[in-house]
Amino acid sequence: MAALLEASNLEAYYGWSKVLHGLRFAVEKDKVTVVLGANGAGKTTLLRAISGMIRTGGEIRFAGERIDGQAPEDIVRRGIAHVPEGRGTFINLTVEENLRLGAYVRKDKTGIREDLDRVFHFFPVLKEKSRNPAGVLSGGEQQMLALARGLMLRPRLLLLDEPSLGLAPVLVMELFRIVRAINESEGVTVLLVEQDAVAALELAHQAYLLETGSIVTSGPAAELRENDSIRRSYLGY
Ligand SMILES: Nc1ncnc2c1ncn2[C@@H]1O[C@H](COP(=O)(O)OP(=O)(O)OP(=O)(O)O)[C@@H](O)[C@H]1O
Ligand SMILES: [Mg+2]
Repeated sequence: MAALLEASNLEAYYGWSKVLHGLRFAVEKDKVTVVLGANGAGKTTLLRAISGMIRTGGEIRFAGERIDGQAPEDIVRRGIAHVPEGRGTFINLTVEENLRLGAYVRKDKTGIREDLDRVFHFFPVLKEKSRNPAGVLSGGEQQMLALARGLMLRPRLLLLDEPSLGLAPVLVMELFRIVRAINESEGVTVLLVEQDAVAALELAHQAYLLETGSIVTSGPAAELRENDSIRRSYLGY
């Protein structure tokens, strides 16, 4: 099993305060990997560390090459798309303008039109509303827009920060169904961080559990679903 992304002894800092304490994990190519953790566990920080947005220690390798310490735009150019917490859509731009921004580092302008059609196929509601300002979309639609914008990079690796946040359970299922379809039909590898353990373990192949900046459990998602302490603490049964 080949890892597309690998981290070893990964640390991350805000100023002098260390928030990730020497993590080791791997994201297998063509798979969906989830990192579960409660509020403040360090999930967002983990994605920021991969994207080069904060100071890190240790090693991060993408497709075999070191990327730690590189500038965020260089990491994006390698094909790592980060869909941030809280969506980060531009509310005064139209849906289509937001989507085109997702492709800003790409040079193949003709491919971009094709990819707009591709994402409209996954998200028909965005096609309907392509000329509306993003600000008038519902929360769930904005979450879809954020994900669709990430896809416009034609990423090899998609980093998703709590896409379920604030969505009704039925919408979470719908969004995760689309993530799975993207993973399976487009060959996009996914690293998802989530608090919604039930939905995320259903979607993912591999899982890690993060507690106060350290990985405490890992394994195939199906195994973590059966793990007693995870059931008690995160699955609620
Ligand atoms: N910009 C920042 N400056 C300083 N400390 C921060 C900053 N962002 C996060 N932290 C701290 O880092 C730790 C991990 O935060 P992080 O945002 O990664 O958690 P999280 O797992 O994403 O939580 P949530 O589920 O609430 O989004 C927390 O203790 C938090 O207070
Ligand atoms: Mg977070």
